[in-house]
Amino acid sequence: MALDFDRVIERRGTDAAKFAGLAQEYGREDVIPLSVADMDFAVFPPILEAMQARLSQEIFGYHTLEEPAKEAVCRWYAARHALKVAPEAVAMLTNVVSGFNLGVQVFSQPGDQIVVQPPVYGPFYLGPQHDRRVVHNPLKKVGDSWKMDFIDLERHFKAGARVMILCNPHNPVGRSWRPEELGQLAKLCQQYGVLVLSDEIHGDLTMPDYRHTPILSVPGMEQHAILFSSASKTFNLAGLSTAFAVIPDEGLRKRFTDALRVVHAGSNIFGLVALQAAFDRCGPLLDELLQYLHENLHRTCVRINAISGLHTRMPEATYLLFIDCAGLGVQDPHRLIAQAGVGLNKGSFFGEDYSQYVRMNVASPRPVLMEALDRLSAGLVRNR
Ligand SMILES: Cc1ncc(COP(=O)(O)O)c(C=O)c1O
Repeated sequence: MALDFDRVIERRGTDAAKFAGLAQEYGREDVIPLSVADMDFAVFPPILEAMQARLSQEIFGYHTLEEPAKEAVCRWYAARHALKVAPEAVAMLTNVVSGFNLGVQVFSQPGDQIVVQPPVYGPFYLGPQHDRRVVHNPLKKVGDSWKMDFIDLERHFKAGARVMILCNPHNPVGRSWRPEELGQLAKLCQQYGVLVLSDEIHGDLTMPDYRHTPILSVPGMEQHAILFSSASKTFNLAGLSTAFAVIPDEGLRKRFTDALRVVHAGSNIFGLVALQAAFDRCGPLLDELLQYLHENLHRTCVRINAISGLHTRMPEATYLLFIDCAGLGVQDPHRLIAQAGVGLNKGSFFGEDYSQYVRMNVASPRPVLMEALDRLSAGLVRNR
């Protein structure tokens, strides 16, 4: 099926978060927002068809759709990631963030240290911040890339941290963690008895030259990790509020699902139907999308790196670019870029030390993306 990713769909006036409050956030209504991590592409036809068929049933009462959805999760992980998952190891959730935050509540006590790896998606700090202690194990910039600092990590584990929230692949730096890196992490977790809550929501958005390594495929990690993910990033379904956890270890699973029962967050019919259609029928369409995103990333990197004062690198996964704006020599690069007519995420959303960065989402039709890049080139050159 040839999909037309160049087709521009008007999202203004569709209650899209990315287009809300532009004037307040960026100081002008006509910015092109390349911010919130969803995509400006239509959902794949098999997903729409499945949702429309369900819609035509006219009644949306209590249902039994979780079991077939869990089986679809297992088929997807087997086919896409060579990971064997049993349906009973899967728990359906409302979303990924509430899932790992529930994990923090279940597997740590108030006051405990929870490790996160800045710069990282803002909500990683929020749950633990409530009544735990967030401890930072910052990623190290090595040349153009970002690496985990295992010496610092071991220091935190030695000091008593027993839970870590991992971003695999990592938003915003775009690293797809290698088996060797996760192996080193695993060794430390096993040595110190640390549980990893692994957010793998971007795992299916791994670029063609790379391979996603689910934490559960790392030897020995089944007893030390819970994988959280969703079809929502990959297939543009974030508004359907459906996600899942994979917990092969029976003891961990019982503790987590006992707490989940108390929360009693029922799952969404359309989210489950869409997840099944996505995982069972949309693998080849996703491959087409990944090619398009890869080309968007490549073209954007070339254009960004041609602007004096900006620097970025090709991510290994995600449709997000973390752009170093230190060379612009301004305090608030986000504002300067907004004045040029492009709305990006502030680096400070990912940690207080990253205000010299901005994050750009390239999951837009190429005509929109190119217009944004033209604005950036013209605006930033003029401003210097
Ligand atoms: C790493 C990461 N985790 C979680 C989320 C949000 O997922 P959910 O809406 O399922 O909580 C995002 C969204 O951008 C993300 O980038």
